[in-house]
Amino acid sequence: MRIVMLGAPGSGKGTQAQRVQKEHGLPQISTGDLLRKAVADKTPLGLRAKSIMDAGELVPDDVVLGMIKGRLAAADAKSGFILDGFPRNTSQADSLDRLLATLDLKLDGVVLMDVDFDILMKRLTGRRTCSKTGAVLNIYFSTPAELEACKKAGGELVQRQDDNEETIRNRLQVYERQTAPLIDYYTKKGLLKTVAATGEVDAVYSRLKSALGLK
Ligand code: AP5
Repeated sequence: MRIVMLGAPGSGKGTQAQRVQKEHGLPQISTGDLLRKAVADKTPLGLRAKSIMDAGELVPDDVVLGMIKGRLAAADAKSGFILDGFPRNTSQADSLDRLLATLDLKLDGVVLMDVDFDILMKRLTGRRTCSKTGAVLNIYFSTPAELEACKKAGGELVQRQDDNEETIRNRLQVYERQTAPLIDYYTKKGLLKTVAATGEVDAVYSRLKSALGLK
């Protein structure tokens, strides 16, 4: 199964994609995670991307495409994948189509994580990642037991550099301007499935599974 997860920053793409990966073995391919690793490793690509990401703008298409080509060629992506945060504009979507066509592959579906915009600021300012387990948590929405489990594993709750109010506001505007047009783009291709992504994480996951026909 080849899936794209589409949705505003904070709509839960990463949270849900991680769960699909864990329970169904589909690798989550997140361009944001790949870029953050390049930044942390101080690679030339990471050095180029850092200030752009800190401002909440999109990294140039050629950079992201290069990463995606390499990642889709890896062995674990051969039988399927879940793309999280890519494509991000119509030019990237066209490039993805062309890339898949050269591999004789097609997308099975595009999931729109549909959330009220009002809730996104709280989700994003409250997001923390466990430095040990990599779990995506939230100081407002995770249970005390979930937050404690990170500390017990020897990890710390780390906040993303771009999860501050000013950058979040810009990321939301960039989404509206550049990424939201993909809703129409994939609707016209007959691929879009909308999932109501407000409410408990488990309830959203159930709706996502039904949309994808997963057990
Ligand atoms: P990226 O890492 O892709 O960030 P994003 O799109 O802004 O999305 P987020 O990761 O912020 O949100 P999410 O939807 O995954 O939400 P999550 O599950 O974490 O991109 C970062 C930057 O990299 C971009 O700004 C850009 O610069 C660059 N970039 C990346 N891809 C690019 C591309 N293709 N082209 C160009 N540039 C690119 O959830 C958020 C929080 O909410 C968490 O704390 C979570 O615990 C909580 N939460 C989730 N679900 C629920 C729920 N149901 N109820 C309560 N809380 C919930």
